[in-house]
Amino acid sequence: MRIRRLPDSLVNKIAAGEVVERPASVVKELVENALDAGAQIVRVELEDGGKILIRVSDDGAGMDREDVGVALQRHATSKIRAAADLIGVATFGFRGEALPAIASVSRFEIETATDDGDATRLRVAGGKIDPAEDIARQRGTTVTVRGLFYNTPARRKFLRATATETRAAIEAVTVLALTRPDVGFSLSNDGRELLGCPPASRLIERVRELWGAELADTLLAVSHRAGPLEVSGLVQRPAQARPAGRKGYVFVRGRPIRDPFILRAAEAGYRSTIAPGDRPSLLLFLDLPGDAVDVNVHPAKLEARFRDKFFVEKVVEEAVREALAPLEASASFAAPGQVSGMWFQGQTSLGSMPAGIPLELFGRDALTPDTRHQTPLLQVFNTYILFQTDQGVAIVDQHSAHERVLYEDVMRQLSGDGAPAQRLLLPLTLDFAPAELDAIEAHRELLERVGFEIEPFSGRSIVVHTAPNPHPRFEASRCLQELVADLAGGRFGGWQNRLERFAATYACRAAIKAGQGLESGEMRELIVRLLTATLPAHDVHGRPSMVQLPKEELERRFGRSTS
Ligand SMILES: Nc1ncnc2c1ncn2[C@@H]1O[C@H](COP(=O)(O)OP(=O)(O)O)[C@@H](O)[C@H]1O
Ligand SMILES: [Mg+2]
Repeated sequence: MRIRRLPDSLVNKIAAGEVVERPASVVKELVENALDAGAQIVRVELEDGGKILIRVSDDGAGMDREDVGVALQRHATSKIRAAADLIGVATFGFRGEALPAIASVSRFEIETATDDGDATRLRVAGGKIDPAEDIARQRGTTVTVRGLFYNTPARRKFLRATATETRAAIEAVTVLALTRPDVGFSLSNDGRELLGCPPASRLIERVRELWGAELADTLLAVSHRAGPLEVSGLVQRPAQARPAGRKGYVFVRGRPIRDPFILRAAEAGYRSTIAPGDRPSLLLFLDLPGDAVDVNVHPAKLEARFRDKFFVEKVVEEAVREALAPLEASASFAAPGQVSGMWFQGQTSLGSMPAGIPLELFGRDALTPDTRHQTPLLQVFNTYILFQTDQGVAIVDQHSAHERVLYEDVMRQLSGDGAPAQRLLLPLTLDFAPAELDAIEAHRELLERVGFEIEPFSGRSIVVHTAPNPHPRFEASRCLQELVADLAGGRFGGWQNRLERFAATYACRAAIKAGQGLESGEMRELIVRLLTATLPAHDVHGRPSMVQLPKEELERRFGRSTS
């Protein structure tokens, strides 16, 4: 395709602004051009973090002599012709600005060759293009940028330390490497290889090359479609989310986009399975028709505008929820190889039940603990409940499990009819501190919905007429006191949604405590309710509520291993 100058009417429609801020932005633009040219291998070399030299080489289609001259003019591009082409543009570039912008602030050289054997070198210094030279080279293009901002000292001053600029350049390549696992990428600084990933067939392999198996093994695939929108990618298992260092990337129609709202929507998909403050790693690829999103809203193409943003956010949340659901409901215990050395995995991917158990052992319908499966349940340390599943031994933390069950109940009650409450024969009278009385007042309606009917009495006292009855050993006054103290003290502050926060606080305080002896019927009821919960494997703090000791691990330990 020929490169042509865009007509002014179209130039004016293109988001304007500065594209060259630092070496990393040069790297980004040149690597994008390489990808647009169909490169299979892209190599980036830096000297002094790009401050002395940036060189990007590719094995793409190259340009013939006539085209390369045009490419250096402002607003010259081969990628669009008319305004209509902006809709659904599939290349990274479309503005025709990068090459001239870079060439105007550096000592610029481009060497390029096409399949026809046309091979050219052009040099630009201070905005002046030297006559083209013949060279010998293979198909592809190499752009060398020396002395970035040498002629604009004020901007050169803003360049940061070598390490900082290098890191930014690595990040620029990393993001693009995620969009094209099939393309090989490498980056070096001062001759030292800092990033290298060979062509791969799948995103997860690319992630492993870029960040290592440690992160890659914590990720689950997402694949969800709703109407015109397809969401795919990788999301982190809840138990492995951490407060710092997460990777969060959004790609729209194959382009990296900064969109905190989409990341937030994805986090909402985790609901209460991660602790407030923990941030899961997320790599989300959104695919939708070109006319449903405008990519021409930011000069460096870092933002996109959706026609229906709420729909997109809703579907992203659904997609994440769906990806996590099998983890919760069925098997995804670590593969035998991963458990070696540990007899069970504490807070890891184990936080889920083996395949089929929830449905087969304790079928979701017609569940009556007394009449169905009499799998023996064993309570140990008055805290954990053990039982056999067809894949191993499950160990449930009674408090965490009950917390999960109550949380889900309460979320339903808060949005529905409210909880069945018990009228107390003798109303309770309780005293509270002023801040706690404020918290009661602020949460009066929610308290009532979970079953606490409260009336101010006198001074610092209130009267409680009804109370919920989540289990036979429930102590209404203690629960209410703890709950109100939490609400007043701002604990559980990480929860964004007020209802969820209230529900989590209530669930934590109302649940059976550790150290409480349980009768077998109570245990059975708890296990049945847990296994029929939507997200059984995690408590409301994001910790696991069950772990499993896989049967193979027992076999290995006792030397019964068949493999
Ligand atoms: N590495 C490359 N290989 C082949 N063609 C290239 C390469 N880099 C740039 N070009 C050509 O030069 C044109 C101008 O590039 P650029 O200024 O980045 O604008 P844009 O990418 O927005 O079109 C491109 O449209 C493309 O035709
Ligand atoms: Mg470009």
